[in-house]
Amino acid sequence: MATLKSRYTITAALPYTNGPIHIGHLAGVYVPADIYARYLRAMGRDVAFICGSDEHGVAIAIKAKKENTTPQAIIDKYNAMIAASFADFGISFDNYSRTSASIHHETAQEFFKQLSEKDIFTAQESEQLYDPEAQQFLADRFVTGTCPRCQHPEAYGDQCEACGSDLSANELIAPKSTLSGATPETRKTKHWFLPLDQYEGFISKWILEGHKNDWKPNVYGQVKSWVSNGLKPRAVTRDLDWGIPVPLDEANGKVLYVWFDAPIGYISSTKEWAAREQKDWEPYWKNSATQLVHFIGKDNIVFHCIIFPVMLEAHGGYILPENVPANEFLNLEGEKISTSKNWAVWLHEYLEDFPQKQDVLRYVLTANAPETKDNDFTWKEFQARNNNELVAIYGNFVNRVMVLTHKYFEGHVPPVGQPSATATATLEKMSAFPEKIGTEITHYRFRGASQELMNLARLGNKYLADEEPWKKIKTDPEAVAEILHIALQITALLAVVSEPILPFTAQKLKDLLQLPNISWAALEGQAELLTSGHKIGTPELLFEKIEDAAIEAQLDKLYNMNTMETPTTLPEIKEEINFDTFSALDLRVGTILAVQKVPKTDKLLQFEVDIGFEKRTILSGIAEYFDPNTLVDTKVTVVANLAPRKIRGVVSYGMLLLAEDSAGTLHFVRPDAEAENGAPIR
Ligand code: MF3
Ligand code: ZN
Repeated sequence: MATLKSRYTITAALPYTNGPIHIGHLAGVYVPADIYARYLRAMGRDVAFICGSDEHGVAIAIKAKKENTTPQAIIDKYNAMIAASFADFGISFDNYSRTSASIHHETAQEFFKQLSEKDIFTAQESEQLYDPEAQQFLADRFVTGTCPRCQHPEAYGDQCEACGSDLSANELIAPKSTLSGATPETRKTKHWFLPLDQYEGFISKWILEGHKNDWKPNVYGQVKSWVSNGLKPRAVTRDLDWGIPVPLDEANGKVLYVWFDAPIGYISSTKEWAAREQKDWEPYWKNSATQLVHFIGKDNIVFHCIIFPVMLEAHGGYILPENVPANEFLNLEGEKISTSKNWAVWLHEYLEDFPQKQDVLRYVLTANAPETKDNDFTWKEFQARNNNELVAIYGNFVNRVMVLTHKYFEGHVPPVGQPSATATATLEKMSAFPEKIGTEITHYRFRGASQELMNLARLGNKYLADEEPWKKIKTDPEAVAEILHIALQITALLAVVSEPILPFTAQKLKDLLQLPNISWAALEGQAELLTSGHKIGTPELLFEKIEDAAIEAQLDKLYNMNTMETPTTLPEIKEEINFDTFSALDLRVGTILAVQKVPKTDKLLQFEVDIGFEKRTILSGIAEYFDPNTLVDTKVTVVANLAPRKIRGVVSYGMLLLAEDSAGTLHFVRPDAEAENGAPIR
């Protein structure tokens, strides 16, 4: 077993407050971080588990402009929502702060000042894009244009999402302001750069040489590729009006780059917590006996493995992360989770549909965590893991043991005499689990930890099945006493070692067993968790079966999101687009040849549509609104160049246009009866 340090500072990526959080966030960052923190606390370690809201992104400023409100209103709304979701799912932060807090503004400014006084930055005048209408400089997401690498027409000023290149706004071809649509001019402005290039040696030595074997290959590989491409100076100031003011007189009107201030948020959140708890924050960041670990998703690797460590190193006096166990991404039903397409399972909605089932989601996301590669969340697997593992193995075992104890021994832990060989062997196997699970957790193998936890329940289940106490009760009650005594020890151990992964279940099980408080650290070498004569409580089910209908409802919700809400007024006109955006759409005349309902769904219709030169299968979530038999031979408008999409196992090649009136009624957009199938509509 790895030796544990005495103190841990565990950080989880600060979420942007421009939307609620979904299962991808939970699986990638917050559940693993929480399991780690809970385990270390259970081992008696001094833990600071730190997080907060990241409230200065450009995305927040843009969202505010689009929704005609203030950034403050946006961050207040989502900060509250996100904090509530974390609390609901048992994410046990010691502190959840926000980067708009004054303690953070002060900390980030002090940090900048220190680097500035140490002459770390290089200040540089350069030509930057400027929007003459909105009267502001444009960087990052405030500007779009054609990617100079792949010609994608909608690359951003910091990145092209089509080819993944890192860009700077000046490189974009035919740039456009996302604020006003204006073509930007260039103007001179001064910025402060963190000279990452001067820290290549530091990063190479610390990570590439020092953490070759203990960091995850996905993390190590990314760092290696950044370093071998050559690190470049990075501007850490911006000409924006939303952010933390740069604390220099000559930088009037400029703010800190969000990725400069946000990671300092870990430090300010620690300070806020320490002040509340009347502790000293410094040991958590400055003492080499402390292990610092950052939990993040893979898109944050460069910031946590290169930029922030360089900031800490340049500042001086801080410890560096011992590990950055970044996860890959979680997909949903085979597609990338997307906020804008509403392709997500939102945490607040999950709890409305599955109240009290936080642990089921925690378990499924852990058992299927995207630890080494991108992974897929499917509702079918969610159901299967609940029904076949949590219910059939874990819950069933605990319930049988408790029911039999009540039936044969009036709810008292029966006494044991000289233990049989099977009993001794089972206790031995059982007592190996705390360390097995702990080792998986300390090595950031949370999937493995969840499997070991289930294996402990399997051990119990198999023991009962092999020993068959229900058959022996008439002939050999002493043997049954021993069997249930041992089985009860396994349930008690489950209650203790489930806590990091299934905190709600662990608590419930402890209550059911009336288990005295036993810490994980005290388990070592102790097999007797429940002593003979101890009275247990009344059995209750820990998990319940999830029926097909509940899963179907989730799938319907996911696939038919667009038709879920009935408007009562006509929506406002969307943002203006240019002609190119319009002509990118390929609309065609079509005729419906056949319609059928997609089996086992409430809302999906499958159409065969003739578009002249070919026939298309197209799915639409409108079954509630039409009688399929009335639709054959109807002329329709087809979006013919929409990327194919697999829905409930069927691939849909396009979309049918419908008008939705203010009463929520749908009408097909029907071309003239004479229009030829396949004719372009423009
Ligand atoms: N808000 C960022 C994201 O969601 C993460 C910030 S992590 C921090 O990708 F280190 F900057 F805090
Ligand atoms: Zn590109």
